[in-house]
Amino acid sequence: MNRGKQLYEGKAKILYETDDPEVLLQYFKDDATAFNAQKRGTIVDKGVCNNRISAALFTYLEGKGVRTHFVKQVDDRSMLVKRVAIVPLEVTIRNITAGGMSRLLGIEEGIVLTPPVFEWHYKSDALGDPLINDDHILSQGWATAQELARIRSESFKVNDALKAFFNERKIDLVDFKLEFGRFKGTILLADEISPDTMRLWEHGTRTKLDKDRFRRDLGDVEAAYKEVLRRVLGEKSQAVGAAQ
Ligand code: C5P
Repeated sequence: MNRGKQLYEGKAKILYETDDPEVLLQYFKDDATAFNAQKRGTIVDKGVCNNRISAALFTYLEGKGVRTHFVKQVDDRSMLVKRVAIVPLEVTIRNITAGGMSRLLGIEEGIVLTPPVFEWHYKSDALGDPLINDDHILSQGWATAQELARIRSESFKVNDALKAFFNERKIDLVDFKLEFGRFKGTILLADEISPDTMRLWEHGTRTKLDKDRFRRDLGDVEAAYKEVLRRVLGEKSQAVGAAQ
């Protein structure tokens, strides 16, 4: 599959066309941004870690019945994905308070949420991805009621599956962000699933193994991404070259 014209460059990834009009190549960069790109930096080998972690998690989720845009991993930093039209919404599911929810409601971090909290955000860098509800979405025509129901149920399926996956690896899944796209009349899970888009705390010690190490200048950022990759891949991590 040849890499064609660059379609789009985002903060952490680049999308290229391929020989197949229905398939794109998603390339993962080492660039890191936080606080709506006010903070910028580089996390060495982040692209390799996030590509491999996303590939493994999309494959795992497909096995659990979640339909995703993932086609296959091509190399260390790229994967083939179906060419979806991204729904301009970001879903957040929170199992433990942290980040935005702690700030919004003045609640300390680390409190287990029962039931988990589901949030819609409007995908807009200019507006800082504001928190919205179903009525905002329907009134603006960003998605249909049927699509919202589908995205919500798929998101909870992802939460159940990923919570169990990380629990086995002694990691607490604190929260995460998902994006979905339309492809031939169906809704597919899209974008990436990585320590850039999830909060992951080591079970017991609550050591942060995610982008909060970069956001909050906690140090050992690269080591945290590599540790997540190691735990996600399990025995297969023996074969990891560049990310060691
Ligand atoms: O900042 P906040 O607490 O709302 O983030 C919730 C989750 O969504 C975190 O895991 C964060 O990494 C992720 N997120 C993201 N992209 C954004 C905003 C948040 O991946 N634009």
